[in-house]
Amino acid sequence: MSSLVDPSLAPLFSPVKLGAFSLPNRVLMAPLTRSRANEQTAPHDLHVDYYRQRATAGLIVSEGSQISREAVGYIRTPGIYSPEQVAGWKEVTTAVHAAGGRIACQLWHVGRISHTDLQPNGQAPVAPSAIAAPGKAFTPEGPKDLSTPRALSLHDIARVIGDWEHAAQCAVEAGFDGVQIHGANGYIIDQFLRDGANQRTDMYGGSPENRARFLREVTEAVAGVWGGDRVSVRMSPQNGAFNRMQDSDPATTFRAAVNAINGLGVAYLEGVEMGGPAEHSLHAMLRETFDGPYVANGAFTAQLGAQWIRDGKADAISFGQPFISNPDLPERFRRGAPLAEPDRDTYYAGDAKGYTDYPALD
Ligand SMILES: Cc1cc2nc3c(=O)[nH]c(=O)nc-3n(C[C@H](O)[C@H](O)[C@H](O)COP(=O)(O)O)c2cc1C
Repeated sequence: MSSLVDPSLAPLFSPVKLGAFSLPNRVLMAPLTRSRANEQTAPHDLHVDYYRQRATAGLIVSEGSQISREAVGYIRTPGIYSPEQVAGWKEVTTAVHAAGGRIACQLWHVGRISHTDLQPNGQAPVAPSAIAAPGKAFTPEGPKDLSTPRALSLHDIARVIGDWEHAAQCAVEAGFDGVQIHGANGYIIDQFLRDGANQRTDMYGGSPENRARFLREVTEAVAGVWGGDRVSVRMSPQNGAFNRMQDSDPATTFRAAVNAINGLGVAYLEGVEMGGPAEHSLHAMLRETFDGPYVANGAFTAQLGAQWIRDGKADAISFGQPFISNPDLPERFRRGAPLAEPDRDTYYAGDAKGYTDYPALD
């Protein structure tokens, strides 16, 4: 570890406690889907190298990992529900720990962002309501329109919450330090939260509080396995940012969403605004409403992140794309070294190229 070249970046390098996570710095690695799992949708040797190389992050949050067979929406994403997947992740967590790092597993259910070709027995994907999302799924045969989902019954909802709990338990067995609940980017929890995707008339639909009930019950189930202080929750309140999610009143909806997880002792809330703090940014509302630490994400530079921590707008910053091409990102910030640009053509799928071949400085 070298000394800090730009003293204004010091806030990024003061240790912090987020729930039970004791972190040596505030440069977190954001979850990044890279679609390189094997045929069993398990991580393997390539993932061991990739995550080990990034062990100097204050905390790594893994790529989204589907909690069940039906939770999948993309090819080659890893799961966290089968013995093969647990064994693969165990190798990853062991390597990260041996390198002095910490890693949480991002638990993911895509809901309607899927296709019948990707689903067990070719069935329809599940969602709060039978409303198809605009956009394409990446199937083995190439891009196809996202399928119209089947609305979950109350019985199905209880079963899906059980799947979150089972995956949380698998993450314990795989040796993770904690988990993140993927509540962002238009996937199943976000689908429940927003009136553009949730038109239910039962206790999971209607008012913002009812739409937040699924998030609350998932968080309770996962916290029941881990303790709230090893669970974080990710939200992305903007409209249209990803998977073209829409809500008629995001500020009210997401205030209710945060209130739904308050009181559960969650380690931290992470707010995402893709492309940088949005014009009507809801970062401040999320931070002020939540009863624990706050992590901000979206196009942050080291300078802006340090300033946000200094100004009390966030307790830590997570970086996504900069970690793809800079495995030693905290050290580069410390030294004021230039950042390598990531190659977008190798973001998803492929092999070691554009994955484990970005060099560290030394
Ligand atoms: C290749 C790629 C994969 C991503 N995969 C995930 C994911 O699995 N889960 C998630 O919550 N966000 C995912 N995101 C969003 C990032 O975590 C992050 O929010 C976004 O890149 C903005 O941060 P950045 O500007 O620092 O990259 C992904 C983004 C990219 C570019």
